[in-house]
Amino acid sequence: MTYIVNDACIRCKYMDCVEVCPVDCFYEGENMLVIHPDECIDCGVCEPECPVEAIKPDTVPGVEKWLALNAEYSKIWPNITVKRDAPADAKEWEGKPGKEAEFSANPGKGD
Ligand code: SF4
Ligand code: F3S
Repeated sequence: MTYIVNDACIRCKYMDCVEVCPVDCFYEGENMLVIHPDECIDCGVCEPECPVEAIKPDTVPGVEKWLALNAEYSKIWPNITVKRDAPADAKEWEGKPGKEAEFSANPGKGD
């Protein structure tokens, strides 16, 4: 199994998750992060760190699409291990429906 990041992260991108990962397996897109499924050791410590509950084990129902997206973009986006500031309007996007339409395939800056 692995953990994955879902659409709740889009445009929130709080990055609290990256600081706790023991194997540095988060990768940064322009407006969300993903987890590399083959690098994640399933420790689960990142899950409670995310203030918008965007991190889930891939054993919960309905995450197949996000598992595929995490697998795809973790191969091409840069690695991120150091937290930076969240987007200025992150709070406004918390829990909003339809955030999937806001997904950007562009890479983030990484570190
Ligand atoms: Fe990293 Fe553990 Fe979260 Fe996997 S479950 S992404 S290894 S902190
Ligand atoms: Fe996203 Fe939550 Fe991490 S909003 S960047 S998964 S702390």
